[in-house]
Amino acid sequence: MKADIVRLLKSNNDFISGEDISQKFGVSRSAIWKYMNILREEGYEIESVPRRGYRLIHSPDILTLEEIEEYLNTDFIGRNILYYNSLSSTNTEAKEVAKKVEEGTIVVAEEQTKGRGRLGRGWVSPKGKGIWMSLILKPKMSPLKVAKITLIGAAAVNLALKDMGIRSYIKWPNDIIIDNRKVSGILTEMNCELNMISHVIMGMGINIGLDKRDLSNQLADKAISLREVVGGRVDRKKLLAYVLNRFEELYIPFIRDGDISRTIEISRQASNLTGKDVRIIGSHTEKIGRVLTIDDEGQLVVEYDDGNIEKIFSGEVSIRGLRGYMDN
Ligand code: BTN
Repeated sequence: MKADIVRLLKSNNDFISGEDISQKFGVSRSAIWKYMNILREEGYEIESVPRRGYRLIHSPDILTLEEIEEYLNTDFIGRNILYYNSLSSTNTEAKEVAKKVEEGTIVVAEEQTKGRGRLGRGWVSPKGKGIWMSLILKPKMSPLKVAKITLIGAAAVNLALKDMGIRSYIKWPNDIIIDNRKVSGILTEMNCELNMISHVIMGMGINIGLDKRDLSNQLADKAISLREVVGGRVDRKKLLAYVLNRFEELYIPFIRDGDISRTIEISRQASNLTGKDVRIIGSHTEKIGRVLTIDDEGQLVVEYDDGNIEKIFSGEVSIRGLRGYMDN
């Protein structure tokens, strides 16, 4: 109902009377008045003039479906948005609701109080300063394929940034890098039954307006925000919709025919590791090698000094740059 009122206000440049709105939705005028007040509390600027009605002056910078749908052209990705002001972690919430919602549902929060990163790290997620969201997917396939979904996520963020005129790199498998600093990370978690995925939660964090005060000294050198990159405001609504659009575009061929070729092409084109010396850190080992390429299956192909070539499967290792760059 609230969302429908927003849509109605958005589609009318002029005043629309309380009477018309109440008739349209079959509720009393005082109910409409109450909704208007709730919307105002959410940050909508709504003018109301006696005998003329209501007019929308300004919408807040929030990531609800009503606010992003004008940029969204997907069939199912992001068509159901569970929007929260604050959550401990969108991934944790997504896990809770995954069974009950349709594929493509996203959980978005303006702030996370316990945002989670890969390898047990935290993820700084202050209010309104980024996109903190988790996408719920239900691909009918073997859990072995989940790493490819993460690659799709990284490629989607890379393309969406390009759509916004921002050049970024992918540090395989799923960090998005600008100026040798991390702007976005992905945390993929899954739930399986009998060798089939029951659902995948793909959590994405995109830093938009964080500043030095939000980050520890240690993180400040490693993280970057888009506002800093473009030297001004970045439209979060547009960027979220673009990420979802691009994700769906790459995900559909994958679930239909197992076709991941476009994602691999993007991962290769945007890779900041190819040709570089890297440190491959396993749970008990640490090896230094040179990245040759990303193969057609999305694995990182590394050559060691002794001439041995290894294909690295996502999730088995972390990769660190030798001279501090690319470090996460
Ligand atoms: C990484 O370590 O690079 C992954 C970071 C993932 C952060 C996102 S923010 C939204 C979602 N919810 C979380 O708690 N984490 C992911």
